[in-house]
Amino acid sequence: SSLELGPYRHFMQKEIHEQPRAVSDTIEAVIDNNGFGPELFGDKAAEVFDAIDAVKILACGTSYYAGMTAKYWIESIAGIRCDVEIASEYRYRDIVANPKELIVTISQSGETLDTMEALKYAKSQGMEQTLSICNVPESAIPRASKIVYYTRAGAEIGVASTKAFTTQLVALFTLACTLAKVKGRLTAEQEHGYLEELRALPGSVQHALNIEPQIIAWAEKFAPKHNALFLGRGVHYPIALEGALKLKEISYIHAEAYPAGELKHGPLALVDESMPVVVIAPNDQLLEKVKSNIQEVRARGGEMFVFADLDSNFSEAEQVHVIRTPRHTGVLSPIVHTIPVQLLSYHTALAVGTDVDKPRNLAKSVTVE
Ligand code: G6P
Repeated sequence: SSLELGPYRHFMQKEIHEQPRAVSDTIEAVIDNNGFGPELFGDKAAEVFDAIDAVKILACGTSYYAGMTAKYWIESIAGIRCDVEIASEYRYRDIVANPKELIVTISQSGETLDTMEALKYAKSQGMEQTLSICNVPESAIPRASKIVYYTRAGAEIGVASTKAFTTQLVALFTLACTLAKVKGRLTAEQEHGYLEELRALPGSVQHALNIEPQIIAWAEKFAPKHNALFLGRGVHYPIALEGALKLKEISYIHAEAYPAGELKHGPLALVDESMPVVVIAPNDQLLEKVKSNIQEVRARGGEMFVFADLDSNFSEAEQVHVIRTPRHTGVLSPIVHTIPVQLLSYHTALAVGTDVDKPRNLAKSVTVE
């Protein structure tokens, strides 16, 4: 069961390895339905989706980064404006209410106080269309929401979120495709294509897990470091943020993430031979831009650790280490590229010798202010 470690050393390790199953369970409803549609989000969803013309995502921590990833999908696939906001900020500021905004909260636990209060605040300002994406059935946030979509990660014990994040991304991709369909923007051909990508996802996640031995070798080099920089562009920028967060949370190495195009506006000043730079660089329309960002780092003596995919056409060079995920995965690539950054933080924490499942000062679910 979810509460036993089995052959694993830590719950985090077990939960990372459970992701092909967790993702597969979360896509099951879409596959069984043979397509996207409001019915996936319950009886009231058709009415809710008809009533909205914008999306506002509210969340904390890792769930917030899932929301940031979703913004790219919701705007590009559904053509609907989407804003993402940290719940603890939103709840305390004056907002311009838009009753046609779909309020989407994302929470693994469904009990995070700031997210709950942000939801209540939105409702008090007249936003009635509320969707909760949550991993714990019948928890407080889904109970306070009009419609709900449950991720099926299973109980997550490790404080640092892993399988909850990838299943949230699956749910959010499903939301983007469903909104596109409701708004008449999804052709049958596109729908078929996205379904095929979802079907292939558990296998692609498994393939990404198989590169673990190569990542263990990298982790040895990270353990003695004090700082690390994570870079990504476009939809992979939030994955760089999540990679930096994971490393901070469990290995206590200071890490920050930047959109690679922003390098020259500050972080480049930090780059020297003691600063490892992790780059998320699968083959997409921004790859050539990322490659020139890599040259900028290289020219300053930085050591780079690049997560590429089969199609990225990268080669190892002096100061440039490359690990390739075994498949190219198109629109779902951010989900697949989450796996290597999770594994890197896990193995770095092991090498550092921290309490991986219970990092100091952090809680699994923050129900106080
Ligand atoms: C805590 C956990 C994180 C989590 C965040 C939001 O900080 O340590 O892993 O991402 O809360 O939690 P939620 O349950 O709302 O997703």
